[in-house]
Amino acid sequence: MEYLRKKIEMKNIDHLYIHIPFCTGKCSYCSFFSKPYDEEVANLYVDKLIEELKYYQSIYKEQLNPKTIYIGGGTPTTLSKLQLEKLLISLYEFKNVTEFTIETNPGLLSEGKLELFKKYGVNRVSMGVQSLDDGVLKYLNRRHTAGDVEKSLELLKRYEFENVSIDLISSLPNVSKEDWERTIEKVSSWDIVKHISVYCLSIEDGTKFADMIESGCLVSNTDDHEFEMGQVARELLESRGYSRYEISNYAKQGFECMHNLAYWHGEDFLGVGAGASSRLGLERSTNVESIEDYILQVTNDDFSSLHETELLSEDEDATERIMFNLRLESGICLDSINVPDYIVQKLDELVNLNMLELAVGCYKVKSDKRELTNSICEYLL
Ligand SMILES: C[S@@+](CC[C@H](N)C(=O)[O-])C[C@H]1O[C@@H](n2cnc3c(N)ncnc32)[C@H](O)[C@@H]1O
Ligand code: SF4
Repeated sequence: MEYLRKKIEMKNIDHLYIHIPFCTGKCSYCSFFSKPYDEEVANLYVDKLIEELKYYQSIYKEQLNPKTIYIGGGTPTTLSKLQLEKLLISLYEFKNVTEFTIETNPGLLSEGKLELFKKYGVNRVSMGVQSLDDGVLKYLNRRHTAGDVEKSLELLKRYEFENVSIDLISSLPNVSKEDWERTIEKVSSWDIVKHISVYCLSIEDGTKFADMIESGCLVSNTDDHEFEMGQVARELLESRGYSRYEISNYAKQGFECMHNLAYWHGEDFLGVGAGASSRLGLERSTNVESIEDYILQVTNDDFSSLHETELLSEDEDATERIMFNLRLESGICLDSINVPDYIVQKLDELVNLNMLELAVGCYKVKSDKRELTNSICEYLL
């Protein structure tokens, strides 16, 4: 902790992440840290979150004055109105916030909760939609229908939320190209949706989908299929005015997610809550991934063993930045990150191979090659 304090002596922490590890159930593909919502546990958890935040405020003082706050999960809107209000009041003292996001699932918004969001400055709502086919939603073990998505969007419109994002998953099993096209067409026809994240399904250890693959009940899609579905999304979304500013993220102009852009630009951020990660200078730390241990350690004021910390070398830090920047539309700009000569050489080779383009000192993955970004990264590093 001493080291951490010294390290960021000169810098401000402009970005704050808060983790709410509760959901109403477990989706078949998801390995994010979340447990079933329990009112009593959640009451305690919110109290401890506020204590952890106060602890950091006592250390960093005015250095902790975030421009962006992101409450993610899990599903933050599983919290009751009372629990949400307690948390939002504790964040309300930050007066520099320009983007304040909360994640939700369809069907988990109410008028009361939206009133709270308005009152305490939440100005961006990110909703996991994944699919608009009720059959598909069922086998994903989602607890909502396509109709719930529309109802939640109506409610957000009524409360005049102007910055709404939705998540979709591409290359899901049993979803044809035509179904996928219809989904993209539908979501992009909703005026209120200014930002769309399109994640390619990844089979994660410990999920129901991983078990199903193991037992042969489910077959993964091929790389070619993933590539094709990615291209379908890109072409349709770009033709409807969404710009692909990051490999998995599309936004109407001015609606890019500032909080996530800060991650990808390698800025410092503080994560609070069980399982939350922080990046402070060369330190990367992650809080304990257990609600019980988190509550116990905060109760005992045991903040130093709340997280595990890794100290990166300057080279490792540069590698991380190169990887993130390659995913961004803005690309790798030689005047803003330190790129070793041998990587610049490889970047030039990729320009000759027509994979990258070089414009005003920035190397960018060509628009029709962005599905190959991960392979390009592997080649570079
Ligand atoms: C942390 S989750 C929270 C969102 C919210 N709880 C929900 O599910 O509606 C953020 C997003 O990650 C994506 N995601 C989670 N697991 C994934 C996986 N295995 N493959 C692809 N996308 C995944 C989903 O699109 C999900 O909406
Ligand atoms: S996708 Fe969202 S709702 Fe589903 S288990 Fe993961 S965090 Fe919870």
